[in-house]
Amino acid sequence: MVATETLTEVTHPLVQHKLGLLRDVTTTTQMFRQLVNELTLLLTYEATKDLADEEVEIETPLERMTARRISGKKVAVCPILRAGIGMLDAVLSLVPGARVGFIGLFRDEETLEPVEYYVKLPEDLADRDVILLDPMLATGNSTAAAVETVKRAGATSVRLIALIAAPEGIERVHRDHPDVRIVVASVDRGLNEKGYILPGLGDAGDRLYGTK
Ligand code: URA
Repeated sequence: MVATETLTEVTHPLVQHKLGLLRDVTTTTQMFRQLVNELTLLLTYEATKDLADEEVEIETPLERMTARRISGKKVAVCPILRAGIGMLDAVLSLVPGARVGFIGLFRDEETLEPVEYYVKLPEDLADRDVILLDPMLATGNSTAAAVETVKRAGATSVRLIALIAAPEGIERVHRDHPDVRIVVASVDRGLNEKGYILPGLGDAGDRLYGTK
């Protein structure tokens, strides 16, 4: 694991093995979706490691004991459309009580700037830990805009789970939002002239949904 206070790159062999399969151009759409799900499960484990917990008294069939239970804020998980949807089920399977918000942003292919076209968020974001989902943190413009959107709606605790990030994207998000914790499977080399991550995996949405 390579970690700073606000960036964690998960180097676990299972994560890296699955990421290699995910990147492979011969991986089918069905397999790609499954790998995104499995990788997100593993990254969610890391991204939620600092959720507050508390001691509770329980009774096993044999005796009383003190167990630990997650306390404090509840979770809101917010996929950034459309590729972030591919990561949603994995988070919900680990945090079934989470509320779900959706943020629709597309990237203007010429300016590379984000355009917001749909936002539907839980009302009580101020009382929740927000987990944004986007498989590819590329220029960081859309992620920074999504963070802005949830903060405007009241969020004070925001983390991002991405599968692959470019250094430029991490820097861009942390320039505006140094408090946001980012968990990724890989920090890649950089971006090409079209804003795609290198070596990356291509267009995550197209590969998830078979649209190309
Ligand atoms: N979005 C993607 O799907 N892939 C990239 O490489 C960059 C942005």
